[in-house]
Amino acid sequence: MIIYADNAATTKLSEKAFNAMLPYFRECYANPSSAHFLGQKARSALRESRSVIANCLNAGPNDKLIFTSGGSEADNLAINSIASYGIRHNRRHIISSKFEHHAVLHSLSELEKNGFEIELLDIPEDGIIEPSAVAEAIREDTAGVSIMFANNEIGTIQRIEEIGRICRSHGILFHSDAVQAVGHIRVDVDLTNVDYLSFSSHKFHGPKGIGGLYVREKSPVSPLIYGGSQEYGLRAGTENLPGIVGTAVALEESLAHLDYKISQTTAIRTYIQNEIASIPSVRLNGHPLERLPGNLNFAFDGVDGDSLRYLLEEKGICASAGSACNSSSSEPSHVLKALGLSDSLCKSALRLSIDESLSIQDAAYIVSSIKLILSELWD
Ligand SMILES: Cc1ncc(COP(=O)(O)O)c(C=O)c1O
Repeated sequence: MIIYADNAATTKLSEKAFNAMLPYFRECYANPSSAHFLGQKARSALRESRSVIANCLNAGPNDKLIFTSGGSEADNLAINSIASYGIRHNRRHIISSKFEHHAVLHSLSELEKNGFEIELLDIPEDGIIEPSAVAEAIREDTAGVSIMFANNEIGTIQRIEEIGRICRSHGILFHSDAVQAVGHIRVDVDLTNVDYLSFSSHKFHGPKGIGGLYVREKSPVSPLIYGGSQEYGLRAGTENLPGIVGTAVALEESLAHLDYKISQTTAIRTYIQNEIASIPSVRLNGHPLERLPGNLNFAFDGVDGDSLRYLLEEKGICASAGSACNSSSSEPSHVLKALGLSDSLCKSALRLSIDESLSIQDAAYIVSSIKLILSELWD
């Protein structure tokens, strides 16, 4: 038996997306830039997929969707665009937060080496940044703000609409890394006032190695990759058409019956949450309600998180200690450190990220397995 509770790391490719991708490997395999009829067919699939994704995000007719190799590249492209704008307008101050994904944080530390001043906001204990903290940090030389939509380790959902309104009223650029949010909760680029928004297909049952950056109509873009004129001349390289087609199908499918899926997943999560968080010496990391429907993150006082994860794996349960990108690192999670947890509590953490396919029986099995392992570890 395998119970997969690591959907924040990646998801299973949907059957519908898989089937939709197949013709673009060996039948309609032409380059979308080719002039012949097969190229035209590929180009039209590209256009159609872009328009489906734009609709799903409620993008305007002149906004851009730039396909990238995934969420990391989209984040890098957004930060690079804010930085280039900052250089042109002599604004070298960028605001972000301490618990962003490393695709954002490491891009920002590169800028710091090149004369930018990076201000990383502290994270309150509940994992939700106060929009007023963003407003207070804004200065005359602020080029932009980058705050994630939902955190990948603790799942807390940020007040993006309010932060977007603040950035808009100050005339500064706003990027949100929505890699964990798109396909899981409603993401509307119009409502949120973002200039840039990153997404990644493999987080919503699409293929790996494909994602994109939404860019508002007149927001500036500075390419990372130069070459051909693909993607409005802003991201060179022959398009990953099967991936793009799969992304559109997976996103449309994720958003169909979204309210039902949210309530289903939230109900199962709440059951696990109540069962585990009520155990003495267990701490739920992040706000109990304002979090992604399928995310749970616990710290277990006196327990080694890696051992707990291995023991769960022996019972067929796939979970993770934190972010998949840092699973080989022995450093405590920067997200949990930002919440104020001690190093030993950080290292005791377990992230469960479920989706609506998890049955109540599977959830009960996860709960009883964790309780049994804890009783042995704490014995
Ligand atoms: C919040 C967040 N941003 C960015 C990324 C990077 O996405 P990708 O794996 O598509 O490069 C991830 C992946 O874990 C993520 O969770």
